[in-house]
Amino acid sequence: MKEMSRKCPQFTDSVIRRMTRISIDCGAINLSQGFPDFDPPKALMDRLAEVSFAGPHQYPITMGALNFRQALAKKCGRFMGRTLDPNTEMVVTIGSTEAMVDTIFALTNPGDKIVIFSPYFENYRAQSIMADCEPIFVPLVPPHYNFDPEVLEDAFRQGPKAILICNPSNPSGKVFTKQELQLIAELCIRYDVYAIMDEVYEHIVYAPNVHTYMNSIPGMWERTISCSSLSKTYSITGWRIGYAIAPKPIMDRIKQYHDFMTVGAPSPLMEAAVVGLEMPDSYYAEFGAHYAHMKQIFTDGLDRIGMRYTDPQGTYFILADIGPYMKKGQTDVEFCEEMARKVGVACVPGTSFFREDVNNIVRFHFAKKDETLYAALERLADIRTKMA
Ligand SMILES: Cc1ncc(COP(=O)(O)O)c(C=O)c1O
Repeated sequence: MKEMSRKCPQFTDSVIRRMTRISIDCGAINLSQGFPDFDPPKALMDRLAEVSFAGPHQYPITMGALNFRQALAKKCGRFMGRTLDPNTEMVVTIGSTEAMVDTIFALTNPGDKIVIFSPYFENYRAQSIMADCEPIFVPLVPPHYNFDPEVLEDAFRQGPKAILICNPSNPSGKVFTKQELQLIAELCIRYDVYAIMDEVYEHIVYAPNVHTYMNSIPGMWERTISCSSLSKTYSITGWRIGYAIAPKPIMDRIKQYHDFMTVGAPSPLMEAAVVGLEMPDSYYAEFGAHYAHMKQIFTDGLDRIGMRYTDPQGTYFILADIGPYMKKGQTDVEFCEEMARKVGVACVPGTSFFREDVNNIVRFHFAKKDETLYAALERLADIRTKMA
């Protein structure tokens, strides 16, 4: 038989989703793959029930239903502080995941370089390899996950096509400040580099931190692609609705890839999700307060247990230090698998996020009902004995 693609062996299956399978296998509480165990807003579920009878049920228009794009333009325009054209500046995709893939394919040619901060969301490396691009990793240094501007500029000197930024950042929980984004923007403009933003956690930010949209920084609209989705903001990760927002010349190319990649996002779900996009500002305030509440429960619990962690500025992830509980010579992957079985809580080994040699960090997520978080913390309370 002829050789299959040489790209696949360059990345493994998703470690995050593998931890979910292990977690199901051994009945652990799954704090690995980030998704809520609580319901989406009732208004969305009610509307979905109506749509199941009223339709639509057939292929959507490829760039996304017009009423959805109109609602999206209003909602995103309000938060980004600019008027967005629903016809020329956006496309609705199968999650932000597809938006990122379409964008990378639309911007790059084989051999192009993409700057990626490490630790990074594991999709980025795989997606870059799929597009025959080469990542240049720039460290975000623990425990505060700041970057060295000199190291970043060194990466820009290597002639990348784009920088890919997750803001707020999975897994570090970092929220890039306006000053940091301005510094990156100056480099993008000076070295003629596109900014691909993954902003799925834009509404999960803890005060006093605030989310700044890269495309709102002067000079950046022309070269920024904002990828995001409804997955996190409306607790509907399974609906698979995402989008990209970019100026028309870039968007025209992204739409071409989208058209042939997936045809379109699911039409009944887009129809139902319009209700979410039309939510008032109070929805986002309550949503943020709910996440602050869950974070408080989880960090208070970790404090009681004595586990060290970096307090996230945004997202629903926490990077924690498992060094004190590891056996000599144990890898973080082995530790996490053993922990799922013996402690009954699943998390993700840090090596799946870090480019650097880091073996003592794991990622927990806390988008869970209070009782789930309390149960997980109870199991973690005697982690030292259980993992001895
Ligand atoms: C940083 C980041 N980007 C994208 C995604 C995927 O988003 P979507 O459900 O919109 O495909 C996730 C999901 O965990 C994520 O953490």
